[in-house]
Amino acid sequence: MIATHYKLIAIAAMLGLAGCSGIQRDPPLQVWPDMRYQKKFKPQRSTDLFADQRESRRPPEGVIARGHMNEENPFNTGMDGKLYVGKSPVKVTEAVLTEGHWRFNTYCSPCHDETGLGKGMVPKRWPAWQPQNLMEDRIVEMADGDIFNVITYGRRTMPPYGFQNRPEDRWAIVAYLRVLQRAAHGTINDVPAELQSSVQYKGSNQ
Ligand code: HEC
Repeated sequence: MIATHYKLIAIAAMLGLAGCSGIQRDPPLQVWPDMRYQKKFKPQRSTDLFADQRESRRPPEGVIARGHMNEENPFNTGMDGKLYVGKSPVKVTEAVLTEGHWRFNTYCSPCHDETGLGKGMVPKRWPAWQPQNLMEDRIVEMADGDIFNVITYGRRTMPPYGFQNRPEDRWAIVAYLRVLQRAAHGTINDVPAELQSSVQYKGSNQ
């Protein structure tokens, strides 16, 4: 009880003094300096807590960080040996397309726009930086692994998006991009026969 009173008085005195000074040159009075002066790691400094003075400890031999085992396989690299995989290793489901949809709209549409034609906000504001029209035949014909690679590392003037999208997310984007391309290249024969007469068809929107 008495100790608590002393602490309160000390705090009140410190607050009072702090209010009086102008430019303070002396370091503040340390009443309980326990944390400031305890032994701890400081970036880029040696430490006497370990015999070898290193702060960054080497992990024990053979240790693998959980969730970071990026094996070189088609799923993680989009490559099969030295070739891009032709078809995505991920089965297309509704959940995959839903994931790909919002990811495309978040990470790709600022430049490529939500239809993939390449008329997003960025080229609108900065006409010198024109993205690729993703509905063009050259991109429709690209291997799935090639597009996966573009998302992971970027290409020429396009920046990479591998940091924001894990491999499964990138495959979801590829799957959704294929949906956009399929829609852009749809023909009247894609409409069920009984509805064809009610549709006005103006040709592909490429
Ligand atoms: C900051 C703007 C920007 C964003 C965001 C962006 N791209 Fe691009 N993208 C570009 C530009 C610019 C090019 C043309 C690059 C060139 O040829 O110099 C391009 C080209 C491409 C190409 C063609 C590559 C080739 O081989 O010619 C593909 C495929 C592509 N983008 C897919 C995507 C996908 C998928 C996303 C979303 C994950 C995305 N882009 C996000 C700007 C962007």
